[in-house]
Amino acid sequence: MKFSLATRVFAAVLCTAGAVAVAMGVSAHVNLNRDFLGYLNEQAVGRLELAVPSVTAGYREHGSWAFLQRQPERWFRLLRPLPDAGAAAPSPAQTPAELTGASRRFTLLDQNRQRIVGFPSPAATAIERPIVVDGLTVGWLALTPFESVSSGAEKRFADAQLRAGWAVGVAVLLAAAALAFWVSQRLLRPVREIAEATHRLTAGAYDARVPERGTADEVGRLAHDFNQLALTLQRNEAMRREFMADVSHELRTPLAVLHGELEALEDGVHRLDAPALRALQGEVATLHKLVDDLYELSLADIGALSYRKTELDLGALLDETAGAFGERLRARGLTLRLDLPAQPLATFGDERRLRQLFGNLFENSCRYTDAGGALHVQVRREGRQALVEVHDSAPGVAPELLPRLFERFFRVEPSRNRASGGAGLGLSICQRIVQAHEGRIEAGASALGGLCLRVELPALA
Ligand SMILES: Nc1ncnc2c1ncn2[C@@H]1O[C@H](COP(=O)(O)OP(=O)(O)OP(=O)(O)O)[C@@H](O)[C@H]1O
Ligand SMILES: [Mg+2]
Repeated sequence: MKFSLATRVFAAVLCTAGAVAVAMGVSAHVNLNRDFLGYLNEQAVGRLELAVPSVTAGYREHGSWAFLQRQPERWFRLLRPLPDAGAAAPSPAQTPAELTGASRRFTLLDQNRQRIVGFPSPAATAIERPIVVDGLTVGWLALTPFESVSSGAEKRFADAQLRAGWAVGVAVLLAAAALAFWVSQRLLRPVREIAEATHRLTAGAYDARVPERGTADEVGRLAHDFNQLALTLQRNEAMRREFMADVSHELRTPLAVLHGELEALEDGVHRLDAPALRALQGEVATLHKLVDDLYELSLADIGALSYRKTELDLGALLDETAGAFGERLRARGLTLRLDLPAQPLATFGDERRLRQLFGNLFENSCRYTDAGGALHVQVRREGRQALVEVHDSAPGVAPELLPRLFERFFRVEPSRNRASGGAGLGLSICQRIVQAHEGRIEAGASALGGLCLRVELPALA
């Protein structure tokens, strides 16, 4: 049989409370009995000592115990304390020992410890006091101590104690049951909610959330972390769907163009001449680049992108890249200013990947800078970092969009015609390359009016 966590917590708390109540009841009962008996016996011993002088006087008066053997009824009268037993002594009839019938447990023994009169079977544990007349022990007064509470008032007292004990025990147990119920319900409700939400999450309901009650305990943190986890899963799922949609869309467009062109050629609408072939080649090249970029990103994601790092000079690398773009920049009417450090600025990196990184940045500046604008590239050292900044003139990117530039397929103008833009993968690839070099890349506004991309790589000493 399976019990819920709440039932088990309830049972555990209740059992513990029950065990404590029973243990306390038993120990209270045992202690009370012992202390109560101790008190009765103490009183009885006091009474015994009070009786010794009067019994001694009785012997002295008759010269033997024979008068008691003849008239046993005189025994209780004999036990009364002598009137001069002390003015401070309470009247025997009022002492607790008298009330509990202690004198009924007294036995008179002769000098050979044979019973003469009194309690019929004195116990081996009896408390004895000698009766001494003229220096001779003529007998013993023995008290058989109380061993259990068995009669009259003392029994009623003990029973009342026991009943009170039981009542308190039952009340404690009921209170514990109520508390256990409350604890098990109250404490475990959030846990139950999280369990149910996890079940829904597992089944693919990524919008499953649990209420956060703002408590800083473990359950509160668990609820908070659960919600974070669900949110992350929801976002990842949305990103995955978006990515798949973007990939298929990006692949479909050039394929559709290719298809259309080929059909037009087949139907004789277009002639298969050099410009038509160039257009076809262009579409194939676009497709090729897209597939290459996606492949590269997927490799970077699974950590399989290989890097062959060597020591290289960043200044020389940027100089070469700028040289390679010289013709394109001129064609767009862009002026380039290149600020290189006087000393070589060494970093440890993969030359091919870094060329790709800076090539992408130059490519973007060529594509997204209005004709007649300017491009300013700065390479310098700042502490232990090598910095490369690529500034260009208008247009820029709205500040709220800057962090999104590194997202896959993100384009500032999604509807831009494909002749003037790519798929929106370039900067995500740049980010992966920089991360693989333990560096950072950030986009910001440039003083020239356009975009500034700042790349930070660890510099070699
Ligand atoms: N120098 C820049 N000036 C203005 N906008 C820019 C600049 N660089 C990038 N952008 C904007 O950021 C977007 C993302 O750039 P990214 O390089 O990632 O993709 P892309 O150039 O569109 O395509 P791809 O590089 O994959 O061919 C661009 O579409 C463009 O809108
Ligand atoms: Mg680009």
